[in-house]
Amino acid sequence: MKKIYLDQASTSFPKAPGTAEAVYDYLSRSPVNVNRGGYDAAYSVEEQIFDTREQLRRLFGFSSGKGKNVIFTGNITASLNYILKGILKPGDHVLVTAMEHNAVMRPLTQLKKTGVTFDRIPCLPDGSLLLAEAEALLRPETRFLVCLHASNVCGTLMPVQEIGDFCRKHGLLFILDTAQTAGVLPLDMEALHIDALAFTGHKGLRGPQGIGGFLIRDALAQEMVPLISGGTGSISHTEEIPDFLPDRFEPGTPNIPGILGLHAALTHLEKISAEEIFCREMELTEYFLKGIQKLDPQETSLRLIGKKTAKDRCAVVSLQTPGMDMAEAAYLLDSRYGIMTRVGLHCAPSAHKTLGTYPEGTIRFSFGPENTKEELDAALAALAEITGICTRKEYAHGI
Ligand code: ALA
Repeated sequence: MKKIYLDQASTSFPKAPGTAEAVYDYLSRSPVNVNRGGYDAAYSVEEQIFDTREQLRRLFGFSSGKGKNVIFTGNITASLNYILKGILKPGDHVLVTAMEHNAVMRPLTQLKKTGVTFDRIPCLPDGSLLLAEAEALLRPETRFLVCLHASNVCGTLMPVQEIGDFCRKHGLLFILDTAQTAGVLPLDMEALHIDALAFTGHKGLRGPQGIGGFLIRDALAQEMVPLISGGTGSISHTEEIPDFLPDRFEPGTPNIPGILGLHAALTHLEKISAEEIFCREMELTEYFLKGIQKLDPQETSLRLIGKKTAKDRCAVVSLQTPGMDMAEAAYLLDSRYGIMTRVGLHCAPSAHKTLGTYPEGTIRFSFGPENTKEELDAALAALAEITGICTRKEYAHGI
């Protein structure tokens, strides 16, 4: 059975051309450490890592920053933890949206015990942000607004330009979680007034898992307390943490294979246009959304969650199967038809509460640039068959 991967919001597949080869080459040829060895091979790795920082700085339009302002971590969750826990102090207040992932909500909930508070800016049941309601939530002690760029549950985009302008107007820091959009949607840290941007390498950037990071402005980095500390290969005469970037936030040997894989993925991304990727993904999303609506206009067997069109969203579609247990539907999709999806609450209970899908959750379909309309047809036909709308044969004949 041919497998069809529609869980791109979880991690991308296939990875960008050259990614696996870069990881393999490094590990098999000369897996030397960085910032430690006094020999050519180590300097060469150092250069490639520096180059990767520069690629990321360019990608995210961080023109006032330097490569040193790009910090590598294991993933976006680690990045958000470093930022939130490194900046917030007892008494501080934070704004989030009602659509956040637990990568933001769990650190904040943990920080609540230390006297940090937060408020959720409400959203409509399709995930759209009601930014006008944010003003009433502001307090003198509000430090920043942290939010995701796109919902990992239903793909709804946050109005990042308006949010950036709002933060600037009210003197708040703006911290953005780009888990679902980096590499797919254009992002410009300067135009959006973003103070810290967290990214992961393995989703839209199509690099390996286990590598992520954040880009941070100097002023914010200076006040941020490092969550972990240790050897950096620099100023080894002292037991104090370096006060310069990126060393301040990068103790220990980094994930060098991950960084070099990401370097290859970013090199590929620089050769093609991100706009092309976005258009391709939106074409697929529109095709799938229309396909669901055509199959079941009354939504008795297939209920679309979130926005019904491809406007203001990324390539993530959630639905419910009212007549059928969703875990069973996802199981059948995989076991009978080879279609891989993600079912449940997607680590985002707040988003599901907003969308009215808590606690049962949804089945999520998410697309990448290499998915095809044929694969989506296979998914639509399979959905039609398991929910009793029509057989796959009938679907193929246009029923
Ligand atoms: N947060 C990722 C997802 O939505 C893993 O699947």
